[in-house]
Amino acid sequence: MRFRQVGPSFAAEVEGIDLTRPLAPEDVAAVHAGMDRYAVLVFHDQPLTDEQQLAFTRSLGEIEHAIGTSLREPDDYRLPTTFADVSNLDKHDRVFARDDRRRLFALGNRLWHSDSSFKVVPAKYSLLHARRVPSRGGNTEFADMRAAYDALDEETRALAQDLVCEHSQIYSRQQLGFTDFTDEERERFRPVRQCLVRTHPATGRRSLYLSSHAGGIVGWPVPEARAFLRDLVEMATQREFVYSHRWRVGDLVMWDNRQTMHRARPFPADEPRDVRRTTLAGDGPTVPQAAG
Ligand SMILES: [Fe+2]
Repeated sequence: MRFRQVGPSFAAEVEGIDLTRPLAPEDVAAVHAGMDRYAVLVFHDQPLTDEQQLAFTRSLGEIEHAIGTSLREPDDYRLPTTFADVSNLDKHDRVFARDDRRRLFALGNRLWHSDSSFKVVPAKYSLLHARRVPSRGGNTEFADMRAAYDALDEETRALAQDLVCEHSQIYSRQQLGFTDFTDEERERFRPVRQCLVRTHPATGRRSLYLSSHAGGIVGWPVPEARAFLRDLVEMATQREFVYSHRWRVGDLVMWDNRQTMHRARPFPADEPRDVRRTTLAGDGPTVPQAAG
């Protein structure tokens, strides 16, 4: 297995590995080591079935289920809950209409975020596999939150160090003007707390834990918190910190949600984009709080 850096220093292509087959323990260790070093890994030409993607994901850790995190109703799921369905397809494989509420909610993925930062136990890795891609657009962009932390001035770094943010999918959707939530959805999407600065358990490196789901800072007035967070996101997503992945069918891209943010880019609304995400559960809450 070989790692070849692509773009900024936190992304690498991985060669010499076949993800359709069970991994040897030394391969699993090498993948984790690669994630610790880079934070985004790209595997090309991996024609995975759902079962193979699940098997590869499980070989790296415990799967986080996607239950109640989108506006798809349970009888409307196209994929089992071991997958986060981030396609633009309904269960009959039809592209969502432009004004479909499920699609509009999912457009929140076009804002910089970290997957599942709205959960008490947020995600560790995400693994996104491309089955069908649009004719143009639809890139996924990644930003390195370790580099962003390192780039902070002393004063901001000290200020950020012990802050706790409130994350909810309601806050990210508010930014897009999507506000018509039902009472049930407001309850389901109620905010959770996350620390703003995280320390990687293996490398000890610190990173900014930012996400468009962050809509408040504990103890701060809301507008001041949002202005501060917006400044941080702006700084953290400067082009020098960004890798833009252009998808090919068969690509699997894996990223560490603890150390990076990402966003999807636009593509023609009438074309199918079938990308399937499996997610590894995080180790625990970043801040003590009641379970969600
Ligand atoms: Fe995402």
